[in-house]
Order: sequence, then C-alpha cells, then structure tokens
Amino acid sequence: MINEKLPKIWYGGDYNPEQWDKEDWDEDVRMFKLAGIDVATLNVFSWALNQPDEETYDFEWLDEQINRLYENGIYTCLATSTAAHPAWMAKKYPDVLRVNYQGLKRKFGGRHNSCPNSPTYRKYSERIADKLGERYKDHPGVLIWHVSNEYGGYCYCENCAESFRSYLQKKYGTMETLNKAWNTRFWGHTFYDWDEIVPPNLLSEEKERNATFFQGISLDYRRFQSDSLLECYKLERDALRKHNPDIPVTTNLMGTYSELDYFKWGKEMDVVSWDNYPAYNTPVSTTALRHDLMRGLRSGQPFMLMEQTPSQQNWQPYNSLKRPGVMRLWSYQAVARGADTIMFFQLRRSVGACEKYHGAVIEHVGHENTRVFRETVEVGRELSQLSDKLLDSRVQAKVAIVYDWENRWATELSSGPSKALDYLNEVQKYYTALFEENIAVDMVSVEEDLSKYDIVFAPVLYMVKSGYADKVKAFVQDGGTFVTTFFSGIVNENDLVTLGGYPGELRDLLGIWVEEIDSLPPEEKNEIVMNKEAGSLKGSYECSLLFDIIHSEGAEVLAQYGSDFYAGTPVITCNSYGKGKAYYVGTCPDTAFLTDFVKTVCDEMEIKPLLQAPKGVEVTERTKEGRSYLFVMNHNSSTVDVELPSGTDLLTQNKVAGPTALEAYGVMIIEQ
Ligand code: GLA
Ligand code: ZN
Repeated sequence: MINEKLPKIWYGGDYNPEQWDKEDWDEDVRMFKLAGIDVATLNVFSWALNQPDEETYDFEWLDEQINRLYENGIYTCLATSTAAHPAWMAKKYPDVLRVNYQGLKRKFGGRHNSCPNSPTYRKYSERIADKLGERYKDHPGVLIWHVSNEYGGYCYCENCAESFRSYLQKKYGTMETLNKAWNTRFWGHTFYDWDEIVPPNLLSEEKERNATFFQGISLDYRRFQSDSLLECYKLERDALRKHNPDIPVTTNLMGTYSELDYFKWGKEMDVVSWDNYPAYNTPVSTTALRHDLMRGLRSGQPFMLMEQTPSQQNWQPYNSLKRPGVMRLWSYQAVARGADTIMFFQLRRSVGACEKYHGAVIEHVGHENTRVFRETVEVGRELSQLSDKLLDSRVQAKVAIVYDWENRWATELSSGPSKALDYLNEVQKYYTALFEENIAVDMVSVEEDLSKYDIVFAPVLYMVKSGYADKVKAFVQDGGTFVTTFFSGIVNENDLVTLGGYPGELRDLLGIWVEEIDSLPPEEKNEIVMNKEAGSLKGSYECSLLFDIIHSEGAEVLAQYGSDFYAGTPVITCNSYGKGKAYYVGTCPDTAFLTDFVKTVCDEMEIKPLLQAPKGVEVTERTKEGRSYLFVMNHNSSTVDVELPSGTDLLTQNKVAGPTALEAYGVMIIEQ
C-alpha cells in the first residue's frame, strides 16, 4: 500500500489554489467533496512564492492550504516546487540556466529549465526540500512527496561539460580506455586530455537529435544527463527522507519518454508515478504498453496514475475531448494494469497562461453542472466502493517483453542500416499482437529475473550488455522460449560491434549466422513463405524494413523469403536449446504474421488469452488474496457482446455469466 493513512484507491489531482482568490477556496473544497476527491497535489510550481529571495522562505500559504484540505478530509500529495526556478535566481545565478542543443544559453522562461549540474540549482533545490521535509514531517495530512515535476531535457553548458568529464574519468579511468571504447581512431578523434572532450550536440558530434558521428560519446552523454537529473531527484529525496522516512517519495514520469533511463529511476522511488496523456489518435494498446512499462519499473508493484486530463489537453495539435465515458474507461484501464491512484491534471482550470484551455475537474464556468464534473463524480463514487478489493492487487504475467532505454538510444543513434527503424515501434508491434490476444505481459528491464516467465520477447535487442546473453541462455536452457528479431546481438554497451558474425553473443543460442542485412524503403516488401504449417502460422506474409540474410547453424528453418536475390533463404528460425527454444524473426513482419506468431508461441507454452473477446475489448486481470478481478473494457463506440465467465461485476454487484452486452466504452470488473 502506498500509504496506510489512506487505504483506498486515491482520487485527486494537481491543485493550484495560489492562483486563485480566497473566495474560491471554499467552493473548491465543496466540489472536491462532491466528487469524492481525497488527494490534492499542492506546490508543484510555487518555488517563486515559497522563496521570494535568497534567504527568505514563506510557507504560510502552504500551511493554510494543507490544513484546510485536511480538515475537510482531503490529503496532500506535497510537491517540492523545484520544477521551475524563480526569476531572481536566474538573474543572480545564471548557472541555473541551461544551454540548449543548439548551444544557446537560455534566459529565464518556461519550466523544467534548470541545469542539473548547476551548483546553485542543486543547493537551493535540496535546501527547499529540506525545509519542506522539516516543516511537514509530522503533518497528518501529508501522504506522499512529489519531487519536482516530469524531469527531462538535457543541458550542454560548461558545468555539464565539466561534470561529464569527471563522469567519464570515473567510468573509464584512463584516456586510453575511453579512446578504445569510443573507437576514436576513426576520423582522428583521439583525445589526449579529458579537457578536450565537449558535450555532443549540434556544435560538435551530432547532426540532429539522434544522428551522431560518434555513438560512444552520444550514448554516454545520455547516460550522464539521465543520471545527473536522477542525482537532483536523489538530493531532494534524501533531504525529505531524513526528516521522516515513512512518507513515501515519488516523482512523476512520462511513460516511454526517451531521454531518461526510467528503470534506473524506478529503483530510487518508493512508488512509481506517471502522467498519461494519450492523443485523440493514440491506440489503446500504446497506452496499455506505457502502463505496463511503468508497472515494470518496480517489478510489478502498483503504481500511481499521477496525472490525466478529465477532458482535453492544450498542447496537442488537436485537443479533442474525451468522449462521454472515456475518462472513466481510461481510468479503469490504468487500474486494470496496476494503478492504485487515479489523479488528474488539474482540479481547477487556470485563468491565464498556456494551460487555460487544459481540461480540469472544475471548468471555467465554476460550478458542478457540467458533463466533466458529473463523470468525475461517478468515477469517484465507484473507486470508493472498489477500493477494498482492488487496492494492492497484482497483475500476473507469464510473458515478458524486454525494454531497454540504452538499447533504444543506441538503436536510434546508429547510422544505418535504415532511418525507418524505430526501436519503440518494433517493441510496440509485438506488444500489440499480445495485447490483441488479451495475453498479460510484463515489460521488463535487462536486469529482471527471467525465471518467472515462460516466454521472453526481446525485439531489436541491438545492444547485448555484458552477461545478458548468458542470462538468456540459462532461461532457455531451463525450458523458456526466447524470441528475438533482426538487428539483435550486434553491439556491446559502447556500440562496438561484436565481431565474428551477427547476432554476436546470441549466435549459438539462436543457431544461426546472419551474413548480410538488406534495407529497403518502407513501401518495398518481401514475403515470409512458411515451409509448412507451424501452429497458427501458414501460407505467406508480407515483410519490410530490414531483411537479414541468414544461414542456419542448426536452427530449424520455419520460413524463407519469397523474392529478391535471397529468395529461398531462411527468414524465420527456431532453435532448440537445452529444454527450451529460441526463435529468430529476421525481418519486420506484417500484423497478420505477428498475430499468428504470438498465438503459436503462446499455444506451445500453454499460455491462454484471459478471455476470447471481440475486437476493441481489452481484458486484464488483477489478483489479490486468491481472488481474481477480470477487467473487461469496451473501447468501441458501440455495444458489443462478450462471452463472460461466471462471477460478480464489482461495479453493479450483478451476477454475470455467458453472453453479455457491454455498452460503448463500458467496463466490467468480474470477481471470481
Ligand atoms: C504535464 C505536467 C503538468 C501539466 C500537464 C498538462 O503532465 O506535469 O504540470 O503541464 O502536463 O497536460
Ligand atoms: Zn548544464
């Protein structure tokens, strides 16, 4: 449980009373109570208010808000306010200002704008966290610490350059080791002194984001910036913990955000929290992957949905409304995948600046007679009823998909073989195929223990880190099924090619050797022709993007290419290894193939869908104390018939069994 003070699914969101007059506050509380809101996130962007100058701190406004809310039964998720530094700080200490990718020194403005290696930022952010920790350590209304807000972005300033050099010195020890790791003899980039190294941006090694002349330095810079921001988080966290280790600490993450290695971050958080903002055209399976990934950061522990909009965003190109019922549906999707809180950005819509058109529980009209408010009330009431059963329940999966941020960076940074290759897309395709079958999946890091899974998919495992090949081999040896694809096993942690034939360290496990990799523009296709029927796989399928030219070294060839000069050579292989199997998919297949393929490997391992359901119906399961809660969610805009197992729908208390109509955007949670 996140905090026993509030043993239910928390319901609330970001609240900025400092932007409003006193007269509005009582009205806010009245409406929060109507909606069943029990948590308000305060103080996210109030640094300037809390600290008007270098030595003065003023938290009285915060005392008043926290107390007022608490007296009304509403707890506080207390932010540390360090996501936007005060204007006076930028003026007096320009080292807090970032240098951007183009090499331009920023001025005061925007947010999330502090240099993570600025001594000023580190000093004052830690100090304010310390002061908040001290002041509120015993406040009964404070449930959790919310450090900063959506950490992200990189800085390329002189302080960062200096710290980068120390980071490298610590990592490589000698110039010689560094030169080797980065292969700097190429283009005569040999370094003789640490001071010669400059951050890789548009002024130096990078041509544009994700296009670099030297993958080594660009990869290390990403690791370094992600770690630098993490250091900032840890400084604040430790300052807070020192006063009361029992108040959990989190910071809100952003799903598949590319610039931070969230698996490292997850380890430092008491509970993972994240902000979910699908666009009007984001596939449901994309949101599902993000939830599962966030759950994976702490190996399956429940997470917090820290932010979602009740209606619309302001920063998408087209900020469409969530259709009636959709906010509720997507809230349950989060719970279904492991969230123990449903929180909004924001509770009251602001009057000015760029978020005034961002949806909120309380709209500009200011009263409760709105569609959005009514829907908020409904969800609030339901969550209170469900909480006992669902709180702290777990999602169980026998299938894992490996996701690795460093691998993503390396894949994107590599020049060739195809600019259309997108790591996350490839992962998403396998995820979607499993999602469509309603098969539970854990998104796991390369550090996760694999023995609890029956099948591990590792699409585009380009970078094989030291020891990982052995880990996978042990998993397969013991009877596991491993699936990987083209562009796997190619390089080590420094993006240096593993010599001796692709897929490098995975070669004996997969029983193949890849001699060449062809790359064609996305519109040009080849075919995967099955040699014979294998499970659900039969006939032929389309494929595109990359085409490995493969020699079997013991693997069974399941399919071959249909055309081009490599027609008739292997494209899909399966190798028996110990008690298990290792599959290789040597190209980027179409959806039909992926559907049949995941069915085949899941059938072989006797992994069954949670439910056979019509298209657009998502099914997941959470379990607790021997009880199962099956979430059946209709993402279609029309009613569908679903064949249900027998049980009780927690939302209506009705007994259900057999063919049942589920209305548009409807949800059932069936207890068994
Ligand atoms: C992010 C931020 C919030 C707010 C919302 C708007 O998630 O954390 O402060 O800006 O976006 O969608
Ligand atoms: Zn910097």
